[in-house]
Amino acid sequence: MSEKEFYILGLCGSLRRNSYNMSLLKAASELLPQKVYMEIFSELEEIPLYNEDLRVSEEPEPVRRLKEALSKCNALLIATPEYNACIPAALKNAIDWAGAVHHENPLKGKAVGIMGATPGPYGTVRAQLSLRQILYSTQSLVMLKPELFVSNVSMCFDEQRNLVNKAVRDQLHNFILSLLLWSRKAALLSS
Ligand SMILES: Cc1cc2nc3c(=O)[nH]c(=O)nc-3n(C[C@H](O)[C@H](O)[C@H](O)COP(=O)(O)O)c2cc1C
Repeated sequence: MSEKEFYILGLCGSLRRNSYNMSLLKAASELLPQKVYMEIFSELEEIPLYNEDLRVSEEPEPVRRLKEALSKCNALLIATPEYNACIPAALKNAIDWAGAVHHENPLKGKAVGIMGATPGPYGTVRAQLSLRQILYSTQSLVMLKPELFVSNVSMCFDEQRNLVNKAVRDQLHNFILSLLLWSRKAALLSS
């Protein structure tokens, strides 16, 4: 890493208060190397359903703030639940807003890491594949490997939502370090 600070924007696809995916993002924020910091976008719920008329008349403030954060960050880290084998509508909606205007799409060329957690057995594999397809359209540079699929998530965190499963913790740490390396390559590709 250079001496410059490195900024990761965290985006959680779940709106619920006790989201495991939010817990996963928070666990990631505790595993960052020096000079790397993470901010988690907190206004997903405030973003209205995409409507071209709304965008043309006046871009909603939460959308403006999302786009600004996306423009500034060195990497985007998405933690997504799986809803009916896909990503939650709120996450898809935010991505649609961010990439709606082609020439000011902050997702274009952006390094992105995707991870997900579920109480079920398949670790959000299907949601993550859908998300990769969507981010292909926004021309984002999604990290290929490693992938992070957290299954049976209720057994990975304690009641205070500390990530107590050592294997998952190690995977998450490796995932973050890989994302930092990937972001450097992505920056070269997009320059
Ligand atoms: C509408 C709906 C559909 C769901 N579909 C899936 C699914 O396809 N696969 C899966 O693993 N879990 C599914 N779940 C369970 C979620 O993985 C679970 O609620 C999870 O805790 C949500 O993530 P969160 O804890 O970050 O909110 C679904 C939940 C809801 C509400």
